Amino acid sequence: MPDIAKDQLALDGARQFAGREHGLFIDGEWREPRSGSSFETFNPGDGSRIGRAAAGGEADVDLAVRAARAALDGPWATMKPSERARLLWRLADAIEAHADEFALLETLNNGKPLRDARMFDVPHAVEVLRYNAGWPTKLNGESVNLSGPGTWHAYTVREPVGVVAAIVPWNAPLAMAVAKTAPALAAGCTIILKPAEQTPLTALRLAHLMAEVGFPKGVFNLVTGLGEAAGAALVAHPGVDKVTFTGSTEVGRLIVKGATVNMKRVTLELGGKTPVIVMPDADINRAIEGAARSIFTNAGQICNAGSRLFAHESVFDALVEGVADFAGKLRVGPGLDPDTQMGPVVSAEQKARVLSYIEAGLRDGAKISGQGSAASGPGYFVPPTVLTGTNPQMSVVREEIFGPVLCAMSFSDRDLDAIAAQANDTDYGLGAIVWTQNLSAAHKLARKIKAGTVRVNGGGLDPALPFGGFKQSGWGRENGREGVEAYTEVKSIAIAL
Ligand code: NAI
Ligand code: MG
Repeated sequence: MPDIAKDQLALDGARQFAGREHGLFIDGEWREPRSGSSFETFNPGDGSRIGRAAAGGEADVDLAVRAARAALDGPWATMKPSERARLLWRLADAIEAHADEFALLETLNNGKPLRDARMFDVPHAVEVLRYNAGWPTKLNGESVNLSGPGTWHAYTVREPVGVVAAIVPWNAPLAMAVAKTAPALAAGCTIILKPAEQTPLTALRLAHLMAEVGFPKGVFNLVTGLGEAAGAALVAHPGVDKVTFTGSTEVGRLIVKGATVNMKRVTLELGGKTPVIVMPDADINRAIEGAARSIFTNAGQICNAGSRLFAHESVFDALVEGVADFAGKLRVGPGLDPDTQMGPVVSAEQKARVLSYIEAGLRDGAKISGQGSAASGPGYFVPPTVLTGTNPQMSVVREEIFGPVLCAMSFSDRDLDAIAAQANDTDYGLGAIVWTQNLSAAHKLARKIKAGTVRVNGGGLDPALPFGGFKQSGWGRENGREGVEAYTEVKSIAIAL
């Protein structure tokens, strides 16, 4: 039984935190932005204002970069790997100890169902920290045998890449902030985090914990602000050695251009248009539920959402009917309502964007084969929607919608090359999901698909499994060894003996 009085107290606490006067966290201190300006933040569940955050600009970014540089060259550089590990682990414990508060803040600010914030976002952030806490003590180079004349002792070392700017989106604000921060700090870098302007709250709470658990000043800095101001200033700053970004392909392109100023290292996690392939031998009930969850979870605002369904014609009707039925029964509502299964999208802008995609699809000849109801009320609700009659020329099939909209298509071919060609007919290459009981088809399809992650018969994110995109879905990988090594430079040292 939920304890309603305790829940109300926790919610009051979260609202109080949201309504505080928030500054920028730079060099271990909370400071007012140089501009003196701030921006409002909203609860997508009812459209109400819940707080303001400081709008950092160029001057604030410059201060943060200097602080990060000083920390990088200072105490952080000489700290033992095991001490960095302990700090990361301590941060994980601190987030876990405040899990309810983080979940409430995430739901208040992003709109997602509280149950999802509690079961996924917060525990995932904790797991990512603990996973990465294992790396500082294991980031070794290797000794190398050289073939030139003479006798050599040659080896490599991995050094931190330097000052990192992390620019993150609003769909999983805490998880994204930690996905960048944990490996960067594990590798010995220092960081400036810029959360999305829609969702600054959990990042602000995280900054308070950073200080509490004992990270030296300047190791972690938080600059809230708008993308075109704070974000762009980080990308342009010559003191930033690496930008790590998750967001739109459009901004990804701007970052690549901006990074040339000092040849910053760049990691990009961009959009996706993940295909869900259902073979005729699949376990249909599991495939229906998996397909529905993969597009309706987080109201479809997941880069890896299964947004294109390809089902064999023998199972297509059953699939569409099943997913449409799932959509029809979904309880859409504010994230704080315990009955809610799908929340609103993050903003009025995002709502307009998703609805305009549905309209464009209908204009192009698609039809709605199933649609749930959007909750009434002032929140940014959109109905979970299944479109059929779509084809690869339509914008709903080609472009990332980032909403609860599934485009269902069928295939008659059993030739795996032809099936993979359909799945690969996209500019994106982040993920793919295959439903089949045929082991051989599963392995063969996995190799033919051009995407960074292929999942067969289910599965989610894991901090140990590299994640990232082929094609226009990005550059580089997060998670796993690749994820932490992306925050290092390899140095080769050769000594003539
Ligand atoms: P966005 O790419 O503009 O925002 C993501 C982050 O980039 C935010 O922190 C933002 O402040 C920052 N940013 C924006 N402009 C910038 C600039 N010029 N320089 C540096 N940083 C900048 O994404 P937006 O506009 O919120 O959403 C638009 C679409 O992008 C969505 O509909 C979705 O398709 C896609 N998107 C994909 C995400 C993913 O997880 N791959 C996450 C968020 C959005
Ligand atoms: Mg944008």
